[in-house]
Formats: sequence, structure tokens, C-alpha cells
Amino acid sequence: MKLSKILSRSNRFRLLRLKSRLNGKYIPGELPFTWDTTIYNRSAVISKVIGLIGATSYLEIGCFTDAVFKAIDCKHKVGVDPARGGTVRATSDDFFASNRETFDVIFVDGLHTYEQVRVDLLNSFKVLNEGGVILMHDCLPLNYDEQAIPCQSKAWTGDVWKAAFEFKQNPDIDMRIIVLDHGVGILKSCKNTQLKSFSTDNFADLDFNFFQQKYEELGLMEYDDVEDFVRQK
Ligand SMILES: C[S@@+](CC[C@H](N)C(=O)[O-])C[C@H]1O[C@@H](n2cnc3c(N)ncnc32)[C@H](O)[C@@H]1O
Repeated sequence: MKLSKILSRSNRFRLLRLKSRLNGKYIPGELPFTWDTTIYNRSAVISKVIGLIGATSYLEIGCFTDAVFKAIDCKHKVGVDPARGGTVRATSDDFFASNRETFDVIFVDGLHTYEQVRVDLLNSFKVLNEGGVILMHDCLPLNYDEQAIPCQSKAWTGDVWKAAFEFKQNPDIDMRIIVLDHGVGILKSCKNTQLKSFSTDNFADLDFNFFQQKYEELGLMEYDDVEDFVRQK
């Protein structure tokens, strides 16, 4: 039997962190943020956006304990998760394959890998109503361990940040990252007002050095800037 199978979750994480240091993959460095001192969180942002655009339909991809899904006040809510929470027991891929509804606000917070988040975002844009807004959680890992694949940290953003870089160079999507609660991406289907070019199309292979050098180019903003960004045509 594999050692990783019989270890507790925290010991498995310890082992993976140790391995990353021994095999030379680990990249040191820490972002200058602390999430537990920020006043607002992802639920506050989602609620604010729902109020600003008068949203009547909300889709959440990845619901877990429903901590956010239950807190959101919206006329029609659909929550998708293959394991727990929400209203639809399915993976996001299976949900989007059969879904016929459209939504005003979509929160992408399912499987935290670049490949899955990228597909979840592309599928979300296909079912986003005109004037709608997409939010995505976990865009700002504080250190290497938080973003490593496989998960080796209790606070796990995965490599969602790679999808953020990819969408930042899409001319038809405007995106910012709100600096709270592990980084909440906010995306609209309209002209990109901060178009970037990162000289790569291979986002999957970017490493944490790249993230540390360039994360401010993702377009960081504060909670108080959300209204202007949402209203901007
Ligand atoms: C970080 S949790 C979601 C937390 C929740 N949105 C919140 O803010 O409280 C991630 C969830 O994504 C779910 N998940 C994993 N793979 C998924 C997939 N392919 N499609 C949809 N959800 C997935 C997991 O079961 C887990 O419950």
C-alpha cells in the first residue's frame, strides 16, 4: 500500500511539501497579503454584484458546505457539485453538457486546476446573460504550496491563477482581481480595458516565479472599486 494512502491529510500534505523541496520544484516567496484581516469576503462581493445588476439568477460551480451558496440571496439559484452542497449532483462538465438555462451571475469555485477552471469559465461565458458577471475564487495564492498540484496545503488555491493570466489577454473579456479572500476574479463579456500580452500561449507550464513577478498585471482592485468596474460600459 502507498504511504500517502495511509497518512492523515495533514501528514500527506507535509510529505508532499517535503518532496517538492527535495525534488527542486519548490519556489520560495510570499505575497504581501493576509486574508483574515480583510473586512469583506467572496460572499460579500457576489451579493454586491447581484444587487448592482439586479440579478435574478445565480449559478455556483463547486458548493462544498454551501457556506456561500446558502448566504446568497437571489430569486433563482443553481449550485453544482459532484460531492456535496448545491442543488445539482454532477461535475461542472456534465452539468454544462445538459444545461439549458442562462444566468446573470456565475461563481466558479469547483476543481482548482488551470485546465478545469479554464473550461468552467469558457462554459460559463456561453450561458451568461447580457450584462452578466462571472466571479472566480482563488486567483491569488500567497505562496508556492498554496498553488501546487496536487494539493499540499490546507489553504489551496490550486493553479487557478494560470487561467487568470490567459483571460487577461483575451480582447473580449474584461477582468480584475479583487484583493480579498484568496483573490476573487471578476469578469465581464466586453472589450478588455486592460489588454495584456504575456508572450506565451502555454499557460499550463507557467511557474510560480512567473506569478510572483507578474501578478499585479492581472489588474488588482479593492472591494470599493467593484461598483465602478461593474457599471463601466
Ligand atoms: C472550494 S470548494 C467550494 C467552496 C464554495 N464555493 C464556497 O465558497 O464555500 C470546491 C468544491 O468543488 C467541488 N468540485 C470538485 N470537482 C468539481 C467539478 N469537476 N465540478 C464541480 N465541482 C467540483 C468539490 O466537491 C468541492 O465541494
